[in-house]
Amino acid sequence: MDITKMLSGIRLNPAQSTPLYLQIATALSAKISDFSIPVGAKLPPERELSRLLGVSRTTAINAYSLLEERGLVSTKIGSGTFVSAGSTPNQSQSTQMPWDQLFAPGYKAPLSSIIRSIIASPTADDMISMAAGMPDPAFYPLQMIQSALDRNKRAIDAADFGLIATEGYLPLRRSLAAWQTSLDNPATPDQILIVSGSQQGLYLLVKSFIEPRDYVIVESPTYLGAIQLLEAAGARLLTLPPGNKLDLAMLEDYLIRYRPKLFYTMSSFKNPTGSVMELAERRELLRLAEKHRLTVIEDDPYSLLYHGSPPPPSLKQLDSFGGVVQLGTFSKNLFPGLRTGWVHAAPPVINRLAQEKQFVDLHSNNLAQMIVHAALEENSLPLHLAMVRREYKKRRNAMAAAIKKYCGAAMRFELPEGGLYIWGRLNPTILPTELLRRAAPFGISFIPGDAFYAHGAVSHEIRLCFATHDEERLAEGIRRLAKALNVATAAESLPAASAGRPII
Ligand SMILES: Cc1ncc(COP(=O)(O)O)c(C=O)c1O
Repeated sequence: MDITKMLSGIRLNPAQSTPLYLQIATALSAKISDFSIPVGAKLPPERELSRLLGVSRTTAINAYSLLEERGLVSTKIGSGTFVSAGSTPNQSQSTQMPWDQLFAPGYKAPLSSIIRSIIASPTADDMISMAAGMPDPAFYPLQMIQSALDRNKRAIDAADFGLIATEGYLPLRRSLAAWQTSLDNPATPDQILIVSGSQQGLYLLVKSFIEPRDYVIVESPTYLGAIQLLEAAGARLLTLPPGNKLDLAMLEDYLIRYRPKLFYTMSSFKNPTGSVMELAERRELLRLAEKHRLTVIEDDPYSLLYHGSPPPPSLKQLDSFGGVVQLGTFSKNLFPGLRTGWVHAAPPVINRLAQEKQFVDLHSNNLAQMIVHAALEENSLPLHLAMVRREYKKRRNAMAAAIKKYCGAAMRFELPEGGLYIWGRLNPTILPTELLRRAAPFGISFIPGDAFYAHGAVSHEIRLCFATHDEERLAEGIRRLAKALNVATAAESLPAASAGRPII
């Protein structure tokens, strides 16, 4: 059988909105499923596939990657790409397991799967993703980690690689408490729980505090991961209205009327808006929280990533009644793959969360904890933070300038004073999910604003992360966004276009 000849018969249609790599993957999977290409057959190398089909090598690579993800082919380094055993309907799809009926009832986040699939699709050869809130890998402090480990390797005991306490690697709990104390946020090791990213901390808090139908106050918009977790736990979300000011009157009304269990907030450089809670608001919030015995979860991944002056003291720093639970993470200021964060709270809360954590993973990964401990002991964070603050400020400025230059009145925004995001407000006739769809062929992505609102509210905003790419790439990304905006605006102005909906 001549696979090369068979593949050269595949007809691609560049005019279609389906990206070329997806068209190739679909054609190949059809041939694998109907046995035209048998199990074990070797597929042409990517370079040859690209030549055969007249596409770029990246497109060919993307097509093979997708097939590999779907378990249809496997790549052996040095040998090539082969059709996998178990790839045909006989062996896999035809298993008679009704998986969907067997799973426990689960929560379906309305928008997240659509967004995930659009964002994850490698639709263009030189994709510029402004979607994920990820630091630039070029800034990952590999050298700092390496030298901290080298200098500390004699201090690491083989016993440290066995099981450790659920609360975390004790030397790290100590160094973290000392580091927080040095930042005027007094902490003792028994007030610190090491978690696998602050997302896990949030999960443990929700597990420990929330029963179905409990009320929780959130801001609007707020962190997508928090909305999903709370909704999945059956919490009823009471939302505070959008805007830079915290609506304390409404908050108090909620406290009296509904007696909510928690208030989830980001006090500094919120995800997604970048806004900061003023000092007076912080104090008033804490006064109300103390009066009504409200637990405040202060999620704080961004306060050290300021572009000019630091934000006001955190809620935890101002907390005089012990009701603030603070979440911290090294994901944004070191790197996200560390999966190392912490909860800073009163010891009874730490104990309760540790019980829950034991059910999940016994304890967080030792090695990552040792790495962070070594970095803290070496006091290498301040230098690194100074560098990323400087760089992120440059990138923020580059993105802001490009938005003004290319998007003009079609997108408004306020310059954030810290964090990783610009929150762009679109013309109310443009739906951000529609814009995302239109943006895919231009090779860019972002997160549509709807994702950050509870109750499926429709927004006309988008979140753009400026941390991942350098200034030149960001400018190019925004130039392409402006093109997508033009296409979306033109489509909206057609008579059949759907009417814009108001911002909620
Ligand atoms: C507000 C907020 N909380 C939590 C997280 C999760 O961070 P981690 O990587 O520490 O789990 C993020 C990540 O984007 C975030 O923006």
